Parts: sequence; structure tokens; C-alpha cells
Amino acid sequence: MTGRINIQKLGFPARGETFIHIAFEGTDHGLSLPFDEKTNQRISAKLKQREFSGKEGELVSVDVDTPYKTAVVVGAGKEKEFNLIKWRNLLADTFRYCRAHKLTSVTVSYFDILGKNYFAVGQNLAVALYLANYDFDFYKSEEAKKKSKRIINLAFSGGPLLTSQVKVVQEGIEYGKLLAEGIYLTRDLVNQPASHVHPDTLEEQAITIAKESKGKIKVEVLDENECRKLGMGAYLGVAQGSEQPPKFIVLHYAGVGKKICLIGKSITFDSGGLSLKPPEHMETMKMDMAGGATVLGIFKILSRYDVPAEVYGILPACENMPSGHAMKPGDIVTALNGKSIEVLNTDAEGRLTLADTLSYAEKYLKPEMMIDLATLTGACIVALGKNITGMFGNDQKTLDSLEKAANTEGEDLWPLPLYKYYAKSLKSPVADLKNIGGGKYSGGAITAALFLSDFVDKTKWIHLDIAGPAFNENEPYGVVNHGGTGWGVLMILSFLSRLK
Ligand code: BES
Ligand code: ZN
Ligand code: ZN
Repeated sequence: MTGRINIQKLGFPARGETFIHIAFEGTDHGLSLPFDEKTNQRISAKLKQREFSGKEGELVSVDVDTPYKTAVVVGAGKEKEFNLIKWRNLLADTFRYCRAHKLTSVTVSYFDILGKNYFAVGQNLAVALYLANYDFDFYKSEEAKKKSKRIINLAFSGGPLLTSQVKVVQEGIEYGKLLAEGIYLTRDLVNQPASHVHPDTLEEQAITIAKESKGKIKVEVLDENECRKLGMGAYLGVAQGSEQPPKFIVLHYAGVGKKICLIGKSITFDSGGLSLKPPEHMETMKMDMAGGATVLGIFKILSRYDVPAEVYGILPACENMPSGHAMKPGDIVTALNGKSIEVLNTDAEGRLTLADTLSYAEKYLKPEMMIDLATLTGACIVALGKNITGMFGNDQKTLDSLEKAANTEGEDLWPLPLYKYYAKSLKSPVADLKNIGGGKYSGGAITAALFLSDFVDKTKWIHLDIAGPAFNENEPYGVVNHGGTGWGVLMILSFLSRLK
């Protein structure tokens, strides 16, 4: 699946044909160009003619006749507001422009404003390139595949850097490539149609990761019977309408350090069940396993990169389908922790599968911390829009460090509250709780998170509602492509790497 990633000569080869120049607002762009005087003047004139001001998003391309063939001048906005993540996203946009114009060999150079974290410079350069090079083309004709160009040569010009510093950039590039391989896996799994990705496909993928890990990662899969014996009535209730058998997949990376559980919502298709979704809401629901795919992407990286933690990854995989066997609104299921749940809406299925998973993790794995990633609610998209993840949790210190990791990696999230009074709407007259709250203005992302919190007893826990950022139906921007995005892989890896 990830064969595509090895096509680039990335790093420090001979120069690339297209020179990418980053230009800030309010500076004389012509002066800082690195060509001979005549070429500089020609580019300056062109920039003037196009009224180039250096604002973010501006781009002017000029054919030149120096050792380079093309100069692409990219506006970067105000120098004061610039950082590595802006650079990464700007590069990704520029690489996409280059691909569209068949400029497949590029040069990017170091400049002081990028700072002294040379490893991060390399990492972000590689992440920008690989993610901008990503295409989901499994189902395109050979002809179409050939037409779409990727960047196959990226030269990084170190400029003022010392050999020892360049070496650190190179290490960062290698790490960035590893990260991208994990994200490719996540994207590929999310992008494939739901008829091709079933719970047992996720199981196979987990097994492949374990096999390739040379013993570092182990996988255990509980089938329906085993889940029933453990009392996972909520999870199995969701699965029961489908022809596809559920698979409760548990991966284990035996690193040394704190024990962390990563839990990914893994509904391989969410039709809504008998509370059937309207067509326009169902179109993208192959992506409802994005949380699980993110966990698999992370484990792919862990198979080749060590972090100071013992990590479990759990995917309660199943399909949410209507049928003669399906759960009916009004049904009452009993979860692993003994709580009964009145299921009034079978489309609020993610929280049911996660309820049993959180209880399972706490009871049998006893971790120090649990983080779930779930495309849980449309309400979270209403609250924060498409690009920002909603974050909930019961431990401020853990929330702070995850937020820090998210900021470092340029993956946006925002804390939302778990105010208890909203939990009143989850009271049921006939069971311990019901699976939906109070309708339109009930803070749906919050009530869903409060529902989950009923299945966490004493463990530190963070819930990430990734319903928006996991999938992009619109145009690509920065490192975010169309389709499955792989949101969360970078941030979680950064979080795990920094654990003490
Ligand atoms: N998978 C959906 C949430 C979702 C919506 C993800 C849009 C990505 C984009 C989830 O299972 C769901 O259907 N939630 C319902 C809950 C409601 C019935 C309380 C929702 O958000 O409408
Ligand atoms: Zn649903
Ligand atoms: Zn769902």
C-alpha cells in the first residue's frame, strides 16, 4: 500500500529544477533572490507586474535560465507570524502547484527564520512533501495514474548550515518519512470504500503491522463470542444488524514507560442503522472508522520507531447496518460495566461501541491514561467547523500536554467542557441511561462526551471528537488532502515521544 512513498529522492541530491523561494510581506522581494543579477531583475519585474506583495497564498512562477529552470516565488505573509508549521503548509501548497504544472524536481532552501530546531526542519520538510504527494488512485485507470505527476526529486539547500546541522536535518527527514508512511496507511484505509474495508480488513491490517514489527507489536482479536462472554452488549448491539462479523482488535507495543491506551472508533460503515441516515449524510460514512485507521497508522510508525511508553491500541470494529437482525430504537442493551442503555437512536452508535471499549481497557488493561479518537458527532462540526477537533477530558495536565503536542504539529484542536448538568438529558426512565440527549440545542458533542465519561471510572481519559478534521470533502489545503486526512497521527506521536 505504501510503495508509493519510496519514489522520491528526498534530501540532499543535486539541485532540483524548480527553485522555491519564500518571500515575506513588506520586504523587497527582488533583493533576496538567489540568482544572478540579470535573472533577479527579470523576476523582480515580473513580481511588480503581478503586484506581488508577499501576502500568504500569493504565488508567481517565472521561467529562468540559470542552473534552475523555473523560479516559484511564494508569499509567506508577515515574517513575525511565520513558523515551521506555516512553512510546512506553504510548502505543501507549493508542491501541489508544482505537481499540477508538471514541475517534478524542486529545490527548497534553509533560511534563518526557520530556527535552530534542525530535526523539526527536516521532519516538516518531509511531511510537507509526502503528504502533498499523496493521491488516492487505487481505482483510477493506468492512464489517469500516469498523467498525475508526483514530485520525484527534492533538493534541500542547507545554505549557512554546518555539516553537523545538515546531518540533523537529514535525521528529521527520515523521521518525517516514517510519519508520512503511517499517515498514508490511515488515509488509504479511510479512502477505500466501505465494501472493501470490513472489520476483518482492519484485523488483517493489524496483523500485517505486527508481522512487520519483528516482534515489537502483538495483536489479539476478540470475536463475537468472546465479546459476548465479556458482556459487551452495547458494542454487539451495534454490530448485530450487519452481515460482517465484528472484530475487537487489540494491538500492544511493549515499550518502557507509562501504559497508554489509544482507542479508535471503527465503524466501517455508518448507515445509521434503523435510524437510517438521509442520503446526503450517508455519502461520506465510509470514514466512520477514521479513529481506528489513525490508531493503525500510529502503530505502523511504532513498529519502526520507539517511544518511552507501553501502548495499547484498541479498535472495536463493526458495521452499523439496518436489517431484520438490527437493533431497534427502544431496545435496551447492557454494557460490560453492567450499566443498561436505552438505545433511542441507532445512529448514535459510536458511543455504544466506545462505552464497552473504555470499560474493557480500564478493567483488563489498567492503563495510566486512555485517549479515544472518534468521528463521534455532527454537532462537533457545528460547534468548531471542519478543521478543528473537539477535545474533552478529566485531567487538566494531560489535556495541556496533548494540546501542546497538537500545536507543535499543526493539528488544531480546542477544549470543550464536560459540564455535568447536560448529563441530565441522558437519563432514561427505563434504563441506567439513554444513548441520546435532548435534541437540537442540547450541545450534542458534549452530551456524547458525557455519555462516554459514564464508562470511565478512575483513569485519566481524553476524548477527541474528530468528526470534522478526519475527512476533507473539499479542496486540499496545506498538508490536508482531499478525503481521509490522517489527522492525529502527528500529534499523538509527538505526545508519546515526550512522555516521561
Ligand atoms: N458518525 C456519526 C457522526 C459524524 C457525522 C461523523 C458527520 C462525521 C461527519 C455518528 O455516528 C452519528 O451519526 N452521530 C449522530 C448522533 C445523534 C443521532 C445524536 C449525529 O451527529 O447526528
Ligand atoms: Zn451514527
Ligand atoms: Zn458513526
